[in-house]
Amino acid sequence: MIKPFIISLFALLMVASYGATGKMLFKELDILGKLENLDVPEDDIEDDVTFFDFSSFTSQYSGKNLVNVDSFNASGDGVSDDTQAFIRAWTMACSAPNSVLLVPQGRSYLVNATKFDGPCQEKLIIQIDGTIIAPDEPSQWDPKFPRNWLQFSKLQGVVFQGNGVIDGSGTKWWAASCKKNKSNPCVGAPTALTIYSSSNVYVRGLTIRNSQQMHLIIQRSTTVRISRVMVTSPGDSPNTDGIHITASTDVVVQDSKISTGDDCVSIVNGSAKIKMKRIYCGPGHGISIGSLGQGHSKGTVTAVVLETAFLKNTTNGLRIKTWQGGNGYVKGVRFENVVMQDVANPIIIDQFYCDSPSTCQNQTSAVHISEIMYRNITGTTKSSKAINFKCSDAVPCSHIVLNNINLEGNDGKVEAYCNSAEGFGYGVVHPSADCLYSHDDKSLNQTDQYLAETIMVEKETENAHDEL
Ligand SMILES: *[C@@H]1O[C@H](CO)[C@@H](O)[C@H](O)[C@H]1NC(C)=O
Ligand SMILES: *[C@@H]1O[C@H](CO)[C@@H](O)[C@H](O)[C@H]1NC(C)=O
Ligand SMILES: *[C@@H]1O[C@H](CO)[C@@H](O)[C@H](O)[C@H]1NC(C)=O
Ligand SMILES: *[C@@H]1O[C@H](CO)[C@@H](O)[C@H](O)[C@H]1NC(C)=O
Ligand SMILES: *[C@@H]1O[C@H](CO)[C@@H](O)[C@H](O)[C@H]1NC(C)=O
Ligand SMILES: *[C@@H]1O[C@H](CO)[C@@H](O)[C@H](O)[C@H]1NC(C)=O
Ligand SMILES: *[C@@H]1O[C@H](CO)[C@@H](O)[C@H](O)[C@H]1NC(C)=O
Ligand SMILES: *[C@@H]1O[C@H](CO)[C@@H](O)[C@H](O)[C@H]1NC(C)=O
Repeated sequence: MIKPFIISLFALLMVASYGATGKMLFKELDILGKLENLDVPEDDIEDDVTFFDFSSFTSQYSGKNLVNVDSFNASGDGVSDDTQAFIRAWTMACSAPNSVLLVPQGRSYLVNATKFDGPCQEKLIIQIDGTIIAPDEPSQWDPKFPRNWLQFSKLQGVVFQGNGVIDGSGTKWWAASCKKNKSNPCVGAPTALTIYSSSNVYVRGLTIRNSQQMHLIIQRSTTVRISRVMVTSPGDSPNTDGIHITASTDVVVQDSKISTGDDCVSIVNGSAKIKMKRIYCGPGHGISIGSLGQGHSKGTVTAVVLETAFLKNTTNGLRIKTWQGGNGYVKGVRFENVVMQDVANPIIIDQFYCDSPSTCQNQTSAVHISEIMYRNITGTTKSSKAINFKCSDAVPCSHIVLNNINLEGNDGKVEAYCNSAEGFGYGVVHPSADCLYSHDDKSLNQTDQYLAETIMVEKETENAHDEL
């Protein structure tokens, strides 16, 4: 009975703050309740993918099948090509149950672009304690794998863990990027680690750094748990997203620190039930949903929760970005308990996103953005538009909720900007988001409003009494 009570209490508080202007409606309460309670359950991963403490491991007692890459003549000198040793070790580890594929600590293994395919026998652990490095020369990259370095696919119930490092040696790739050298064509570069078409996967403790492009992609996968992952790349490395989630559901990213040149976390089309908690981000472009809708495509993202984050010196904070002319929706998002320091664009919805050398024309269709809650977001902003809702004229944003926001400018004045954005704020909202319009301004007349409000106040007062 705790939750209904809390919702009722919020309702009362809101009525108290909105009573004078009379803008509260049943619909808004429903939305609020929904957003308050939006969550991604974290206890639904299969039981047999449980924590395995490698430090206390001895093959004699554990019943594990240890497959050390060194046993396959990997040199571990960071110079000789260890690709074949890794492929052979993978084949062996994947084909026997209870295997531990070990990349030992204190050594460095040069590995080319490789696909490690499942399905594997049960309870595979990939223990990375050493360093895996990529060859650094783009012109000699295997053309069969233009977008991947280490790609794992069709895994079920697999754990990636260890204190090791996955190093993409990205420097030359960055220099060759069209963002850095305008005379070069814009072509994609490899992702350091990709988990594709998999389920029940844990990734924990690893460091992924200097990727050619994105660092970790979760693609077409379900039930993935990422924790204590560290991503480090320079703030000016192009398109080096930290963790990119695409076409995946039930993904939790927690206790992770991401410093990079693009989005710390990006969540794109076909993703649902995504939770992030205790995330450090900076430098980087912030936490992003999108981009969506590029090239008139349909994009959908639903049920995303960010709980507890610290963003420092990022070019955006909490961002939703969509292209003109797309369709689909972003629906059901809660960003909560976020502290920002020196962040440009702390709260931003950009439906005119255009990451292209030519300008993008406005169109009559857009990805519909609705049910987005920002709650307990505080800190400092570098831009005066601390809250910026640039929504499509054709398809307005709807049900945006702001609660307990306090963003201060480094040098004075901060403001909120809205284009075509409907919603409301309650509690402290600084800068004030009066630019949001209330949907009843357009859809209901005074009589409806008055009735709805009166009934609601009575009902909620009653409930609150019952529960007290
Ligand atoms: C490792 O190298 C040794 C010596 O060169 C060779 O005898 C052995 O077959 C190699 N093992 C594998 C798995 O390649
Ligand atoms: C790895 O790539 C290099 C070129 O960078 C190539 O010479 C070598 O044969 C590749 N190794 C394997 C095992 O494919
Ligand atoms: C940009 O790329 C071109 C062609 O790849 C190359 O000739 C030129 O040296 C590069 N410029 C810089 C500044 O790296
Ligand atoms: C903020 O990030 C930019 C871009 O990475 C960097 O150049 C700058 O030094 C950073 N500032 C601080 C105070 O960390
Ligand atoms: C978006 O995701 C859906 C569901 O995963 C997929 O069917 C569709 O092809 C994706 N669209 C694009 C443009 O990638
Ligand atoms: C607001 O967020 C901060 C930072 O995560 C947290 O320390 C604080 O407890 C939150 N406040 C409330 C009332 O939840
Ligand atoms: C698109 O529409 C927005 C909002 O009305 C406006 O600010 C912007 O200038 C327009 N862009 C173009 C390229 O017409
Ligand atoms: C306003 O709402 C009342 C009650 O629903 C309805 O009878 C009336 O026709 C409405 N007026 C307008 C102008 O829509």
